[in-house]
Amino acid sequence: MSSKSNVQAAAPRSNTKIALSALFAIATVFVVYAKNSQIFDPSSPIAQHFAPAKAFLIPHAIFASIALVLGIFQFSNRLRARYLNVHKTLGYIYIVAVVIGGPSGILIALTIGPKELFMASVVQSFGWIVTTAIALYCVRTGNITQHRRWMIRSYPFGAVFTVARLFVPLGLKLAGDAGLVQVVWTSIAMAAFLPSLLLEWQQIVARKPKSRTAAAA
Ligand code: HEM
Repeated sequence: MSSKSNVQAAAPRSNTKIALSALFAIATVFVVYAKNSQIFDPSSPIAQHFAPAKAFLIPHAIFASIALVLGIFQFSNRLRARYLNVHKTLGYIYIVAVVIGGPSGILIALTIGPKELFMASVVQSFGWIVTTAIALYCVRTGNITQHRRWMIRSYPFGAVFTVARLFVPLGLKLAGDAGLVQVVWTSIAMAAFLPSLLLEWQQIVARKPKSRTAAAA
């Protein structure tokens, strides 16, 4: 068997993963456009909203977006199997992007509020950095299984950007500003909780063989 087909056997293409990634990318472009289509017009409400935080917003938008885009590719088994060096390089860029993108979001929250969501930015940023740092530690110490699991825990903290913005209009409609706060905090809580559910799912549903079956086996 050729080395190429070995790689393909070890890393089959996951159509579900590709479809989910594409859906997530489309949702992200949609929420960015929906909120910021007027941002380059200085007299628009959105440009005026962000004006006091411009110095933080530009690096934040650039680095957090880089992390969000690169993260998707880091989960590609085929990319990892075929081009390990690319995976490593993108991984280090992801780390730098998280370290800049997270805290700069806190500075924006500090500058333009709303005050009710300041701690949400702190917790989201903390979760993003800590999970990424643990993933880095694991890969540096050769613990690839835990590296993968902590990267799966890291990415959702960034993905809160898209998920929260998708549900904010519903939150605002149902409960006004209180709805906004609830949507943001719920998204962050889900980012912290759902990856563990996903990672442990097979263990949760695995059935222990009944003793008679086990004996027969
Ligand atoms: C720990 C993670 C993050 C924190 C704490 C954070 C925090 C914030 C805050 C407080 C704002 C201002 C929102 C407003 O006043 O309306 C903001 C805006 C923004 N963030 Fe983040 N963010 C994070 C992750 C991300 C990610 C992953 C992206 C990647 C796309 C991103 C891109 C942006 C952009 C483009 C804006 C300006 C436009 C907008 O609000 O839609 N952020 N962020």
